[in-house]
Amino acid sequence: MDANLNKNGRGSWNSRLAFVLAAAGSAVGLGNIWGFPTVTAQHGGGGFVLLYLACILLVALPVMLAEMVIGRAGEKNPVGALKHLKPGTPWYLVGALGVITGLIILSFYTVIAGWTVYYFIQAMGGALTVPPGAEDSAAYFAGMFRDMIANPGYEILFVAVFMIATTAIVAVGIQKGIERSIKIMMPLLFLLLAFLIFRSVTLEGAGAGIRFYLIPDLTAITPGVIVLALGQAFFSLSLGMGVMITYGSYLSKDECLPSSAGYVVATDSLIAICAGLIVFPVIFFMISAHGADLNDLVATGAGLVFVIFPQILTELPGGTAATLVFGSAFFLLLAIAALTSAISILEVVTAHLVDDWKIPRKRAAWGAGTVIFILAIPSALSHGAVGWLSEGGWFGISFFDLLYILTFRFFLPIGALGLALFVGWVWGLEKASEEIRTGTPAFRLERLWHLMIRYIAPVAITIILIAQIVDVFGG
Ligand code: TRP
Repeated sequence: MDANLNKNGRGSWNSRLAFVLAAAGSAVGLGNIWGFPTVTAQHGGGGFVLLYLACILLVALPVMLAEMVIGRAGEKNPVGALKHLKPGTPWYLVGALGVITGLIILSFYTVIAGWTVYYFIQAMGGALTVPPGAEDSAAYFAGMFRDMIANPGYEILFVAVFMIATTAIVAVGIQKGIERSIKIMMPLLFLLLAFLIFRSVTLEGAGAGIRFYLIPDLTAITPGVIVLALGQAFFSLSLGMGVMITYGSYLSKDECLPSSAGYVVATDSLIAICAGLIVFPVIFFMISAHGADLNDLVATGAGLVFVIFPQILTELPGGTAATLVFGSAFFLLLAIAALTSAISILEVVTAHLVDDWKIPRKRAAWGAGTVIFILAIPSALSHGAVGWLSEGGWFGISFFDLLYILTFRFFLPIGALGLALFVGWVWGLEKASEEIRTGTPAFRLERLWHLMIRYIAPVAITIILIAQIVDVFGG
């Protein structure tokens, strides 16, 4: 038998470190490095950071552990695992929603990932500089971004490049594909991050940025902001669609799940916070150099990374060389973070096809990758390349935003609620605890976890969901 396969003929992780790195690789993505600093800047800085950390501890961490337990006990993808644990009931539909959510998320995630690849290539080629005689740098980079997103060729080409890389890794399998690539990409990601933080916090004006970012201003916290913080927590930790179920299904029985969940959550939060340490000093550098307005700078999410950031790059002390190095490192960081996340999403869909449809892994991965690529095309073209898919077309919002709102605000919380209810009330806390105890004989926080997964998480998620519905349909 292939050493890569466990007793069920499925893949398995080589070590606990491999699992933790892969799960952290899934969690750390565009949601951390771009999403977190952007929403934090838009919603008051330090207060939002505090709120986010509360959501992580109270709701996201317990749900993360629940997903891992379901996966390791069910030994399958979300659909197969729920069927295995509660045969003959409709609970597998929660898993099915997860697989569908995965298809949708990856179809738009890959579009932004494609942009990061494009910008990485531009940065490496020294193209992120303002040519002499051009208008001011703001207009120049806004133009560059507009040209990219309005060009169907670029949009589709870079989605294809990114999806081929993702699929090629997933197609090879757990140890030889995912594990091996993660073990290269995650250390590289840490290194790039450390370099970028060092450069950022030594910029002029950095102190003001860090103060805004880390000193909580509690007056900025409103119910709407709480909703956003929880959504951000789920998205950032890859929760609610069964990534952790699927990755957990490749774990051996003697691993300690609570501490694994703890490591993943800690890594993800730490990297989100670190991303802020890169972005905020840079924003405040811009403010102190040009008297720019914070709200203008962060008004649009895409603008922050793809327009403002390149603009600031050109002004770094050190000239063109500094721009090239800092710019390439930043966009490479984004691309790698996106790739390790995309792999985990495609793995959920692939594992479902392999486990439940008995399709060979290679064919399953390339089939799913192709479908997602096709689904991605309308999202790719919805930033101006095709009018009716874009903002102001017949959707009112762009096709991309439609999918984003649908998944981020509804499907992920619904999935997380379903999984929490499943563990807390249906499959049962006794069975879940028993599974945890096989690798952790002394599970000290057991009582607390029971309380959270049975009551606190479901109530919190339900409140959030109601608030979303009121917000989207009521106003
Ligand atoms: N967590 C990733 C990020 O922060 C994105 C991601 C990967 C994701 N897998 C997911 C989001 C599953 C939701 C569900 O960018």
